[in-house]
Amino acid sequence: MTAGDSGRRIIVCENPAEVASAAAQRLVVLSREAIEERGRMRLALAGGRTPETLYRLLAESPYQEAVAWPLIEVFWGDERCVWPDHPESNYRMAREVLLSKVPIPAANVHRMRGEFPDPDAAAREYEAVLRRVIETGGNGPPRFDLCLLGLGPDGHTASLFPGSAAVRETTRWATAAWVAKFSAYRLTLTPPLLNGARYVLFLVTGADKAEAVREVLEGPEDPDRFPAQIVQPASGRVEWLLDRDAARSLASVKG
Ligand code: 6PG
Repeated sequence: MTAGDSGRRIIVCENPAEVASAAAQRLVVLSREAIEERGRMRLALAGGRTPETLYRLLAESPYQEAVAWPLIEVFWGDERCVWPDHPESNYRMAREVLLSKVPIPAANVHRMRGEFPDPDAAAREYEAVLRRVIETGGNGPPRFDLCLLGLGPDGHTASLFPGSAAVRETTRWATAAWVAKFSAYRLTLTPPLLNGARYVLFLVTGADKAEAVREVLEGPEDPDRFPAQIVQPASGRVEWLLDRDAARSLASVKG
């Protein structure tokens, strides 16, 4: 089932497995387009639990063979300030279930240095990586071909949390944000970078997200309360892949 306006599409799938399958198919198509047009695909991975199903799927047939992994450059939308082998590390999860199982060169995997003692230095280092790896032609932030994002029950995405100054960042491409609810810093890409993406794919499943989904997609514009609303790519597409539980409060896709 599909709904949405010109730049945004909302697709409701039966269950999380179908969300992952739809996302995998979208990634294959977008990777082929990016490689045909630009010789490579720049992919930003989401963290958290939801995308794990997608990453496991991508590591298996037919997706394993369908993606030209040597031409994929992998980045992260955010990272916890932990060591890369820490159970909470977004990099560790992606490496374990996907990156260690596909022929992607290590040089193409650009993780955020969550282990740095100074989170701001880690964010600045990541910005330098982005600047080095993705040529921008000097005009504006690098453009991801696909940016995968999740949604928290509080409406956060990446590590842009309610009330955070990072939600309103307009200059830096990556920043360190103190997250009071976790009493911890997180590293996150900022709106200028997320909104430079050619394609943003939100993957959201579970009834615990239904209220946040409704507020973000159908509530009043208030990104300080629901930061996912700040993601509105200037010249890119946004697609929401929801399962029925996450979509259950939406008026636009009732029935
Ligand atoms: C993270 C993510 C975060 C995540 C949401 C949803 O590092 O945790 O980047 O933004 O996407 O919190 O997480 P779940 O998929 O685990 O519900």
